[in-house]
Amino acid sequence: MNIDLTVTKKQKLFLDATESEVLFGGAAGGGKSYGQMVDAFVFALKYPGSKQLILRRTFAELDKSLIRTGLALYPRDIFSFNSSSHTGKFKNGSCIDFGYCATENDVYQYQSAEYDCIRFDELTHFTEAQYVYLISRVRGANSYPKQIKSSTNPGGVGHGWVKARFVDPSPPKTRFIGDDGMERIFIPSLLDDNSFLMKGDPRYKERLLALPDRERRALLYGDWNIFDGQYFTEFNVNEHVCAPFEIPRSWRKYRAIDYGLDRLVCLWIAVAPDGKAYVYREYCESNLPIGDSAKAITERTPACEEIYATLAPPDLFSRSQETGKTKAAIFAEHGVTFTKTSNDRETGWLAIKELLIDRGGGTGLKIFSFCTELIKCLPALTVDKLRPSDCSTEPHEITHAPDALRGFAIFYARPREEEKAVVRTRWSRDMWEDYYAADEKDKKYLKLKYGEPL
Ligand SMILES: Nc1ncnc2c1ncn2[C@@H]1O[C@H](COP(=O)(O)OP(=O)(O)OP(=O)(O)O)[C@@H](O)[C@H]1O
Ligand SMILES: [Mg+2]
Repeated sequence: MNIDLTVTKKQKLFLDATESEVLFGGAAGGGKSYGQMVDAFVFALKYPGSKQLILRRTFAELDKSLIRTGLALYPRDIFSFNSSSHTGKFKNGSCIDFGYCATENDVYQYQSAEYDCIRFDELTHFTEAQYVYLISRVRGANSYPKQIKSSTNPGGVGHGWVKARFVDPSPPKTRFIGDDGMERIFIPSLLDDNSFLMKGDPRYKERLLALPDRERRALLYGDWNIFDGQYFTEFNVNEHVCAPFEIPRSWRKYRAIDYGLDRLVCLWIAVAPDGKAYVYREYCESNLPIGDSAKAITERTPACEEIYATLAPPDLFSRSQETGKTKAAIFAEHGVTFTKTSNDRETGWLAIKELLIDRGGGTGLKIFSFCTELIKCLPALTVDKLRPSDCSTEPHEITHAPDALRGFAIFYARPREEEKAVVRTRWSRDMWEDYYAADEKDKKYLKLKYGEPL
């Protein structure tokens, strides 16, 4: 038997992935569903007698997409489909069940089933409870691989849990072990990966470009950082995350700290001659006393790396009632001396925004791709419901890395404020209107942005 199938590079990655849980996720039209059907086919032929389940949330979606693709793709002489039981059988004894879970309870129809591989198409349409229940059905006495392979666009009811399970913990295309010991991988899919669609329907991209911002970002760019209330809407992995490189010795280097017993975060940041800041290392750990924190920070700073300043928020400089000492003093006793930054939250967040915005010549901030905590937490911060110019302090665990970055941003913006103070500009009427409409903090920011008025 000779079947002529061509797959895209990303589909090949998906086909070759051996992790227990695989997510193929991103732009609409990236070739995810097609990739699933080719992969299911290869699995069925490679492992005679194997059992697979392919799921969509509703039957109508299943029928229109996967079943149709399957029927068009799989040769009739080796594959037959029973349209009342929605089961496909191969000559070698392998089978594929096509299923759906419209309601939470639909999962129980698979209560006594066993599968070698379960595939979810449009995973973000499912709830985490459905997913977790169904993956318990992946088991069997044979020696075939046991996998859960999913594909999806960002968005949908399950956006948050899918992002947390697959996208946030590790850079794309990098295998990692989840807290539960499961091996996972996330393979991003972009529209440009799918040359078949780009050739067959060259105007498809234009139609996606015409969508409203949030949908466009999800469906055209496969951007996972979209949800209501996001504070740093400017954040975009493509622009702000970069591949690591060796930082030249001559660049000025800072460390920025956020410290509490619940979590220590230290960011190492280097400033290039063009003024761009690069977060080139991060260290995050919970429940570390000050001595151990100082040691960990020192150990992770090579002796040849000269740190210009280690920035810490003012609360580390307040005296403890019990010891009469400040935390900063104890850090200093352990070899890490701090420079105090400001705790003016709103000015600090605005300073980060200023670094994220591209005003021509690229963005002012780049983060090395292995700094996963900062990359995860910065876009996850939400707007505070009572003070919209501030970030919410909940969930607390995502605030530490951005707080450390805020310390740097506010410190870094300051000298430029002084420089700008001598540069006076003639303000337009619009600028003056913005200024008069702003509160005191935003007035300060506008002066920083526009320069002092003439
Ligand atoms: N390897 C391939 N060979 C031929 N055609 C392909 C291939 N991969 C994808 N296509 C075609 O490209 C189009 C989009 O692919 P597919 O439906 O798999 O994308 P998708 O990522 O699932 O999109 P959506 O997000 O809209 O569900 C389909 O018409 C599909 O048949
Ligand atoms: Mg699809």
